Amino acid sequence: MHVAIGSDHAGYELKEKMKEMLTAAGHEVMDCGTESEESCDYPDIAEPLSQYVLARHILGILICGTGIGICIAANKIPGIRAALCQNSYTARLSRQHNDANILTIGARVTGPGLAEDIINTFISTEYLAGRHQRRVDKIHQIEKKYCK
Ligand code: RB5
Repeated sequence: MHVAIGSDHAGYELKEKMKEMLTAAGHEVMDCGTESEESCDYPDIAEPLSQYVLARHILGILICGTGIGICIAANKIPGIRAALCQNSYTARLSRQHNDANILTIGARVTGPGLAEDIINTFISTEYLAGRHQRRVDKIHQIEKKYCK
């Protein structure tokens, strides 16, 4: 599977670990930065990763300290449905019900073992569509209304 991953400085260490885990499992991983623990701004990572995800119709993973800022930033980009998940249950439901295309994780909140579980659940779960499609369509309608 082709996935994109990115983080700010607070998520850098976890990103590197998760990149290693995904690569070892045979996934093709695009690293959208950052490249060190030097302080940077999470919107600067969220935007290019989101563009990469949208252009290729793939899933992405974004990590910052809490997972919140990078989630808010990614969700400003039309077409992105980013979900902050702290457990596998919400990771599964974010795919099944919300068709989330980006998972966000807080490296200061979620340890590497749990993060691995959350990521594996997220990337292996399909969107269920059906009754959920109408709701996702309504999200798109809101985007169209406000993003002119
Ligand atoms: C960086 O200190 C921190 O604010 C950032 O990683 C993130 O947690 C923001 O939501």
